[in-house]
Amino acid sequence: MAKILLVDDELTMVQMVTEVLRAEGHEVFPFTNMNGVTEALTGMRPDLVITDLYLDKTKPHGLEIVRKARALNPPAVVVMITGFGTVESAVEAMRMGAFDYLEKPFKLDELKLCISRALSYTAALQENVQLKQELKRQNGFSRIIGAGESMQAVFRMVERVAVTDATVLILGESGTGKELVARALHYNSHRGAKPFVPINCSALPENLLESELFGHRKGAFTGAVNDKEGLFHDADGGTIFLDEIGTMPAQLQSRLLRVLQEKEVRRVGDTVAQQVDVRVLAATNECLENLVQSGKFREDLYYRLNVVPITLPPLRERREDIGMLVAHFLKLKSAGRTGQPFRVTRRTLATLTAHPWPGNVRELENALERACVLSDGPLLRVADLPPVVQKHAPADDGSEDQQAAELAVPTGTAIGRVAGPSSAAAPVSGHGGASTASGDRPAVPLPASVISLKRFAREQEMAYLNHALAQTQQNKEEAARLLEISLATLYRKLAGDGE
Ligand SMILES: Nc1ncnc2c1ncn2[C@@H]1O[C@H](COP(=O)(O)OP(=O)(O)OP(=O)(O)O)[C@@H](O)[C@H]1O
Ligand SMILES: [Mg+2]
Repeated sequence: MAKILLVDDELTMVQMVTEVLRAEGHEVFPFTNMNGVTEALTGMRPDLVITDLYLDKTKPHGLEIVRKARALNPPAVVVMITGFGTVESAVEAMRMGAFDYLEKPFKLDELKLCISRALSYTAALQENVQLKQELKRQNGFSRIIGAGESMQAVFRMVERVAVTDATVLILGESGTGKELVARALHYNSHRGAKPFVPINCSALPENLLESELFGHRKGAFTGAVNDKEGLFHDADGGTIFLDEIGTMPAQLQSRLLRVLQEKEVRRVGDTVAQQVDVRVLAATNECLENLVQSGKFREDLYYRLNVVPITLPPLRERREDIGMLVAHFLKLKSAGRTGQPFRVTRRTLATLTAHPWPGNVRELENALERACVLSDGPLLRVADLPPVVQKHAPADDGSEDQQAAELAVPTGTAIGRVAGPSSAAAPVSGHGGASTASGDRPAVPLPASVISLKRFAREQEMAYLNHALAQTQQNKEEAARLLEISLATLYRKLAGDGE
């Protein structure tokens, strides 16, 4: 069974195709215009998108959908339906990444064949995605960069709660890394080998969100043609990540509260509840306290979720991390294109450091990505940055030189926990300098200023324990065996009780 997003302005067409696909056991999300399509691409993560080329006869919205699907949900394949049959539009759609196209009018068999081909293709893609996720899993912590004191405080908290089952509320502006933290919490917990299930609560209308989260019984409402398990069920043994929790409708808030209290879910239309063992992580960029005060968010749920709050500081309040983030993102990008590592000029770095980054780390990442594409060589200049960022460039005295800025080695939690403010830690020119071992983690990361030997040893030990757990897919018995310590000792040390 696949999740299929269907977009066509002809209602009868949508109804017909929906019926056919549902009869084949697929889950179909039909749309007759662009409203909600973008959100659905990210929120529902469809396997397949079937879209009409022209939604209102004026503009080829279908092409926009292909572009968005490629950008927002790359595993999804897109099949374009065209009523015009012009070779150009079909070619354009394929060029933009559509998998196939169907000309109206088409026979049902043609539709079915096309879909089955697209789905076998997506299955292969998904296998690839799973392999990539495996990689991500290995790198849970080290991908989060931040050396300044504010991120260090975050890391200390993240590491302390990762190994627990505590509900965590992750707060912060858009693009500050909330999902990154949620993933790190999951993959570094004992649940790491079980599913991590993210859901954006603002992406779906209330009734869809309800059935998505809790599942439904056949016949519970019009369109519920099959029994369906919800995401809480899918996340059993693992973690559910409720993103943009502040937008959750009141009725669902009550249901969620019940799940948190009783640790069981009842599908829509079901009379019996099922036990689930799911850790809940939630995130929002809104002020939940204000929502509670204005009656939009349940106070009791707020307290339930807010057991451990982790607040991610906006990038403009931790500009000391910008150089390191630049090094981190450029390191990930350098390999592909020129073979040479990308660098930034000193003026570019000064500009990046001065911009207030309302979109935070995501905006910085996108700006660098764009610069890498636009730049005519491996040295990124101010002119390669987005215009809004360029505004913050220091005056050019004509010496925007050939010299690359010196960037500090990207510092994540692996060394972050040791270092105090460590932008001073071994600045090297370029990327991955002598002080790093192969891969992301430094061999023996040294704090910028001398700290007590006891603290240094403790932090190193904790990093190594986490490394052992990551290597053994969080299997504590196996980790203890490899470390040649007892399981009880491992638990004691993980709980920070190592003195
Ligand atoms: N500290 C960091 N180190 C490295 N990369 C980061 C960091 N913070 C964020 N990023 C990157 O920035 C992008 C946005 O991060 P993420 O999706 O976690 O943000 P978010 O807070 O969930 O945003 P939103 O509220 O818009 O959903 C991702 O590509 C992520 O990898
Ligand atoms: Mg997010």
